[in-house]
Amino acid sequence: MSMIRTYADARALAEAAATHVVECARKAIADRGRFALALSGGSTPRLLYERLASRDFADRIDWPQVHVFWGDERAVPPDHADSNYRMARETLLAQVPIPQKNIHPINGEAAPTTAAAEYEALLRQFFMTGRKPPDAPGRARFDLVLLGMGEDGHTASLFPGAPVITEGRQWVAAYRVEKLDAWRITLTPAVLNAALEVVFLVSGAEKARRLQQVLYGPYQPRVLPAQIVRPERGRVLWMVDDAATGRSG
Ligand code: 6PG
Repeated sequence: MSMIRTYADARALAEAAATHVVECARKAIADRGRFALALSGGSTPRLLYERLASRDFADRIDWPQVHVFWGDERAVPPDHADSNYRMARETLLAQVPIPQKNIHPINGEAAPTTAAAEYEALLRQFFMTGRKPPDAPGRARFDLVLLGMGEDGHTASLFPGAPVITEGRQWVAAYRVEKLDAWRITLTPAVLNAALEVVFLVSGAEKARRLQQVLYGPYQPRVLPAQIVRPERGRVLWMVDDAATGRSG
């Protein structure tokens, strides 16, 4: 079940998303003693991460109970300009009292297939411990997964035509994205669709046409990978600005 909430602009979207993350964190920590969060890469979440690090929000989250993971990573070192880890560290993680041991980056420096295998092992170890949500045996049940959507309808690093789009067994995959001529490591739909909640953050007029296709067009996830995200027991919330809906000032 998808819900769509629209906001006037990117700032209003980030503000609402920060409030939502605080609420998700509080509920997860109250129910299960921890908040397992998967961060999105790309540029859209930057404003959200900065808001979460600000005085208005930072002390509303019990950071020592938060565990941060990534939905995908580029095969680059952690200090590389393209690193999703670097962006999150600079805008958020270096500004809040989250223990280093609770930050679980994908290893962008290792051979991508090795990094994917290592990350999958980490996820399996993490989700087999701790108080589980109901019916979670053997699943990577994130409390919240943040995702973006590219102009081509990709999400995380599930790009159009990639075999990983229909991967139901592996939790983490690595492959070379032809159009980018670059390797990516990504959570697969097996993990994304086990989440208790997925929030897509979409901003900008350049996304409007594709967003309409993803939300209201025929179901064709190999063409529009964002459509593959349909959590079995969780919900999908689309938080989008007016420009991304085709309405702009
Ligand atoms: C990445 C993201 C990717 C991103 C979309 C949207 O690593 O780039 O995982 O899926 O969310 O490409 O990116 P923007 O927010 O920059 O438009």
